[in-house]
Amino acid sequence: MAAAPGVRFPVFGLVRLLGLASATAIIVWAVHFRGGMAFSSETDKLLIFNVHPVLMLIGLVVLNGEALLAYKTVPGTKKLKKLVHLALQFLAMLLSLIGLWTVWKFHNEREIDHLYTLHSWLGLSCIIFFSLQWATGFYTFWYPGGSRSGRASLLPWHVFFGLFLYVLAIATSVSGLLEKSIFMQSTKMIGRFSTEALFMNSLGMLLLLLGALVILAVVSPGAGKIDTYRGSSE
Ligand code: HEM
Repeated sequence: MAAAPGVRFPVFGLVRLLGLASATAIIVWAVHFRGGMAFSSETDKLLIFNVHPVLMLIGLVVLNGEALLAYKTVPGTKKLKKLVHLALQFLAMLLSLIGLWTVWKFHNEREIDHLYTLHSWLGLSCIIFFSLQWATGFYTFWYPGGSRSGRASLLPWHVFFGLFLYVLAIATSVSGLLEKSIFMQSTKMIGRFSTEALFMNSLGMLLLLLGALVILAVVSPGAGKIDTYRGSSE
């Protein structure tokens, strides 16, 4: 198999910068363009919906991306790196469950069907498998912890599914942005070339770039210490 590409630029700094930019952009979209967020509202149910993209994107894309890189970015012992990895993923899972609850509540209060779009199918799969991945990882690598050989055989699958679910989170977020933009265009809430539509398209492109850099930082032997991913099941 061909070697993974070597990285000669500050990929971790760039990932952090693009992650912060994406988080800021989705908050600006919800607050500035869509009028804000609320967990409950009698007058404007869309405020409840607006919480959904913000929590999903910050949780499953931004925090998840940082968590994937924790073994290469966090200084200190292997145990500390592992703790940061699992704590960030836990936070991501928590935010995604709250984000799912808000969109579910919005659909209930507006009497909209559940799970009728491809986005919702991708999203539900993402949340279910992300939670399973977290629980399996916690049980095997943290507490109570599997046997040495059990951990060694699970690790490559854990890494593979972790990356796969990260790509799925990016794809789901991009499909959510696309779907919301098309919904709003078809009901004449926004124009095709309105600032908001272009802003949403740009955010989708930003997520694509962020995803590429996170994957590059994970697979590249030049970026950080490779032994934590390749040679050990600790
Ligand atoms: C990884 C991130 C995301 C996940 C896991 C996810 C998951 C979901 C799920 C499971 C539903 C179905 C709720 C129901 O049927 O009651 C849903 C609905 C929705 N989501 Fe997301 N979502 C994500 C990100 C986003 C983003 C960034 C947007 C952008 C605006 C978005 C827009 C929507 C919209 C418009 C709906 C309602 C229509 C539909 O059911 O497809 N989502 N999402």
